[in-house]
Amino acid sequence: MKKYIAVLAGDGIGPEIMKEGLKVLDVLAKKFGHTFEYKEALVGGCAYDKYGHPLPDETKTICNNADAIYFGAVGGPKWENLPAELTPERGALLPLRAIYGLFANLRPAVIFGPLADAASLKSDRLKGGLDILIVRELTGGVYFGKNKVKSITLKEGTVQGEYAVDYMIYSVPEIQRIAKVACEAAMKRSKKLTSIDKANILESSKLWRKVIVDYVQKNYPQIQLNHMYVDNAAMQLATNPKQFDVIVTENMFGDILSDLASAITGSIGMLPSASLSETGFGLFEPIHGSAPDIAGQGKANPLAQILSGAMMLKYAFGLGKESNAIEQAIMAVLEDGYRTGDIASAATPKDKILSTSGMGSKVAEYLTKI
Ligand code: IPM
Ligand code: MG
Repeated sequence: MKKYIAVLAGDGIGPEIMKEGLKVLDVLAKKFGHTFEYKEALVGGCAYDKYGHPLPDETKTICNNADAIYFGAVGGPKWENLPAELTPERGALLPLRAIYGLFANLRPAVIFGPLADAASLKSDRLKGGLDILIVRELTGGVYFGKNKVKSITLKEGTVQGEYAVDYMIYSVPEIQRIAKVACEAAMKRSKKLTSIDKANILESSKLWRKVIVDYVQKNYPQIQLNHMYVDNAAMQLATNPKQFDVIVTENMFGDILSDLASAITGSIGMLPSASLSETGFGLFEPIHGSAPDIAGQGKANPLAQILSGAMMLKYAFGLGKESNAIEQAIMAVLEDGYRTGDIASAATPKDKILSTSGMGSKVAEYLTKI
């Protein structure tokens, strides 16, 4: 199979971890007889520095012509104070999600058995591992409602001086289509779905809940659906995560809860994601940010980037076997005790603590052996 991949490494640790992601994909391609053609493009702060825009036309053209987008991370203190539309996050990442209609963000929070020690919870709460799938709505809600600000009229005298407004908006079709993705995922798993909202306060959440209930009752009555307020869900995730299987939630709640879920699994450096459109086009990126504080030091964990590559194989190219091979290689590397600093414990021998490139090479080496 020949595939054309837009490679957008971005800022901070992005380029370091992307290098490892591609290293593993190269080994995979050779092993299974595929050809991956990479087309690298600048995105985020580095693109702003070169072109004056974090998502230049050159980059969009490369993405338009690609079979999938493999993304690293963007942002950093250097670009934080630019006008909002030129920041890496609001000028590049969000537009990419919007342009390609990447409304369905799949974030699997899985504990790799050997990492139970690195997890933030006592192991008895994680007995038998953990395997949660967070389905985060990615192109709606408060992240994309901001342009309505101008139409707001506030009662005279209620606002003095500067103010800021963010609109959290959801329409029925937006909720239905993410419900469909979550239900399809739940049907392939334990048929258990938890929808997370704040329906005791927010109108957008009340609509969310009503539409989810209707959708599931009508289309997937065999699914066991329950609802949780987001504050309670955070507590439940932190204390009893094994009660969850598939979670569906709106954009910002999904952002926050997926960071929490990653800490439960050991490290934010372990969680990949797939952002998919209705036609199956996708962008694949780790859930973590660009970590400018550790950039260039070889300390970053490349596994979320590598696992995002595995998700790309599975969801964009239909290469399930190949995707599994990468996961198996990672499992074997971890079973043999290799760690990056973020997932190491006091008991990890020094010679088993690997750098970013050391971990990428180790996964590549194990992959050839599978
Ligand atoms: C994520 C990130 C992004 C988000 C940031 C970088 C804009 O935190 O993908 O979770 O908030 O969606
Ligand atoms: Mg986030």
